[in-house]
Amino acid sequence: MKQTLILAVESSCDETAVAVVADGKEILSNVVATQIDVHKEFGGVIPEVASRIHVENISMVIEEALHKANVVMEDIDAVAVTQGPGLVGCLHIGVQAAKTLAWAFHKPLVPVHHIAGHIYANRLITDLKFPLLALVVSGGHTELVYMKDEWSFEILGTTQDDAIGEAGDKVGRVLGLPYPGGVYVDKIAKEGKPMYKLARPKTENPMDFSFSGLKSSVLQFIDRCKRKNETFTAADLAASYQETAFGALLERAEYALQKYHPAQMVLAGGVAANSCLREKVEKGLAEKYKDIEFIIPPLSCCTDNAAMIAVAGYIAYTHGVRGDFDLTADPGIELEEAAQSHA
Ligand code: KG4
Ligand code: ZN
Repeated sequence: MKQTLILAVESSCDETAVAVVADGKEILSNVVATQIDVHKEFGGVIPEVASRIHVENISMVIEEALHKANVVMEDIDAVAVTQGPGLVGCLHIGVQAAKTLAWAFHKPLVPVHHIAGHIYANRLITDLKFPLLALVVSGGHTELVYMKDEWSFEILGTTQDDAIGEAGDKVGRVLGLPYPGGVYVDKIAKEGKPMYKLARPKTENPMDFSFSGLKSSVLQFIDRCKRKNETFTAADLAASYQETAFGALLERAEYALQKYHPAQMVLAGGVAANSCLREKVEKGLAEKYKDIEFIIPPLSCCTDNAAMIAVAGYIAYTHGVRGDFDLTADPGIELEEAAQSHA
């Protein structure tokens, strides 16, 4: 039987990415043009700069993805694109490119929610089993998502303020580490011990998250040390931050596991690349709940890429999700809403 080929475009933040994936499983190509080196100079993503670079890169990345997959547009069954959430100017470039391709080659257009992409990245590793619990941890999101069945999403808890990735990047910045801070906090924490006491995140709903108090607690700790002329070890502070932040993640995930008894639990999003979090899930959850299958995706599947959008796009396509040519980028789109079929 002929495979279903999805070409997907992802441009929600600082990666211009295009992939071709067969049957939502087999990667034929997965091209990512990252802007990290540019944003490093500014210590963070400047949205206007990011959009500008997407415009410069997008055509080349599309061509390369088709070339590497050894296909032409005529072979593609549908064009998927991240509609949101993300930076509006950045999303806009991807949506325009995808609409143009769909229109010019008479292909169905499939809008995809970025978080659905992060969750479905795990389908590149293994078959997903439902009910499924996803712990989504990225630069913009911290969510516990329950999927009773394929392509059904229920948000059990979300962050009340900062996303975990954002908090990690901020902690990295105050420690004088390069962008993206979370990656370097992970690196230096390996040499440190979690010996400093920081504010533990508190939330009303046991499955919600909050990281701004913890972030402030790190800032106050550094200020206090400076004021009192006391020294502290950056590695120990990084380790203490990670211990507190990921401890909070695990507590909430465990609460959801006990309440919902999923068949599978997956990690998703950029922060899933964190070595401390991966170890905590392995030792703190997987070894304890042996009747649940835990999927910790390889690092390449964690951070933004278009293969994950192609996989979610394939599932959306088979569920009848379609976008028309007045589709626009939607930076605030909700996951549950995005899963609905479009006319
Ligand atoms: O999923 P992603 O690529 O983009 C969004 O959808 O936001 O996640 C990016 C985030 C950044 O905050 C980055 O610092 C964080 O993921 N990240 C990490 C690690 N690798 C990426 N945070 C902690 N440890 C890591 N190893
Ligand atoms: Zn992402």
